[in-house]
Amino acid sequence: MRHIKIFDTTLRDGEQSPGVALSVPQKLEIAHGLARMGVDIIEAGFPITSQGDFDCVNRIAREVRGVNICGLARTHKKDIETAARALDVAEKWRIHTFTSASDVHLEFMLKKSRAEILEISDEMIRYARTFCDDVEFSAQDVMRADFDYVIQLFNVAIEAGATTINIPDTTGYGTPLEYGQLIARIRDEVVRDRNVAISTHCHDDLGMAVANSLAAVENGATQVECTINGIGERAGNTSLEEIVMALYTRGDYYQAKTQINTKEIYRLSRMVSRHSGMVVQPNKAVVGDNAFAHEAGIHQDGVLKNKATYEIMNAELVGREAGVLVLGKHSGRAAFNKALEDLGYHFDKDRVQNLFNRFKDIADRKGALGSEEIRSLVETSDIEIPEVFKLESIQVLSGTHVVPTATVTLETPGGPKQHAASGDGPVDAVYRAINAITNIYPVLENYRIEAVTENSEALGEVSIRARIGEIVYSGNGVSTDIVESSARAWLEVVNASIANVGVKKEAMTAI
Ligand code: KIV
Ligand code: ZN
Repeated sequence: MRHIKIFDTTLRDGEQSPGVALSVPQKLEIAHGLARMGVDIIEAGFPITSQGDFDCVNRIAREVRGVNICGLARTHKKDIETAARALDVAEKWRIHTFTSASDVHLEFMLKKSRAEILEISDEMIRYARTFCDDVEFSAQDVMRADFDYVIQLFNVAIEAGATTINIPDTTGYGTPLEYGQLIARIRDEVVRDRNVAISTHCHDDLGMAVANSLAAVENGATQVECTINGIGERAGNTSLEEIVMALYTRGDYYQAKTQINTKEIYRLSRMVSRHSGMVVQPNKAVVGDNAFAHEAGIHQDGVLKNKATYEIMNAELVGREAGVLVLGKHSGRAAFNKALEDLGYHFDKDRVQNLFNRFKDIADRKGALGSEEIRSLVETSDIEIPEVFKLESIQVLSGTHVVPTATVTLETPGGPKQHAASGDGPVDAVYRAINAITNIYPVLENYRIEAVTENSEALGEVSIRARIGEIVYSGNGVSTDIVESSARAWLEVVNASIANVGVKKEAMTAI
């Protein structure tokens, strides 16, 4: 079995998804999750693009151990130097430098000739090697380029010292057969017997990113670049969970395997969905709500008799249905702690105590909580933002013929404070009351509500994104009462703004 390296680019290409902006604590949490899951390389960002991106890559490089941390750089001296400065505190690190291969990119974006690109790539790869022995080189848009030129360019890259050559189908134009054939040419005509890894990086514009990546593996690629839930530019990237489970389930066919701990997949998928605000479609392979659900009577009958009738992998394998459990209001801290561990969470004492208090609060009102509800509780309080303003109580009056009014009491640094406000609806009234107490006025950009389970007594989970000035903050809240969930999410935004953990997404400078 060949070992296939998983190069995760959720924090770089994934973050380039329209509308996605991850804060530093969110990126750190995802990076730690990726390391625990066993990815080989984490592309942590593009340090030259902003001070914020530089700082974040630098923090991940400093704090996330046991995995190679990579930073992106154009084939520019300043990009490479900046990436090296951000990364050199890491245990293991890589500079990933890139240019383009297609004529349309060369003519309109780079405004360079093919010969100039060969020369610049040669010079910049050599320059990157002066900082680090691990240098990856990519040329964008290979599938719309002249393949003979692609061969020539990657030959130059290897001569200059690239240790991994990445072959991006940037526009998702390739088909599996065609892309696989190009990878085979690169294996035979470029890499030959040299100790250089071939990497695949596919976009999903025609829905073929995973198929194309697998075709690359069949033809000699030993690294797959991918993102959690397949998020990324436009239609996204190759989805990590699909590629990993395809190699796991069809190892017999591909004769290749990864070192991913598959049980971590579902937790990370939920984390990325929550932080990015990108909902996973119910029928998404591996991580979608329906991926293991059987509706048709004939299927249900088969699965009840033997799961193998309609399931090619089981839900536990990807960390779903881990320890189906129910905790009640009389459950103690030990049982709660054990439930957290069964669900794959490992927190320090303070965090467990905090979560336990929230659990007790909800269990007192609701009775019992199942696995999904405990997951939701953890995930809506997963970023440790100091609670400068804390919810004490809410009273709401609303109905068909009344002006919605809310009275909110918050614990504040100056003691408890109360305010009453009216609004267009109960949530609007609550938000106005909170704004008046905190004197902070976020502008709501996105509001999402979901029932955690299917029944009408389900917990309601609210996720929001709100802007204060140029900075976007996200907040989550869960409760038996959706107005309270909304208030908790709003307070998380307020507290995040005080802790300064928002995101200012700067546009990528022109290539
Ligand atoms: O899609 C692409 O070509 C990229 C490169 C920077 C590798 O993301
Ligand atoms: Zn890409």
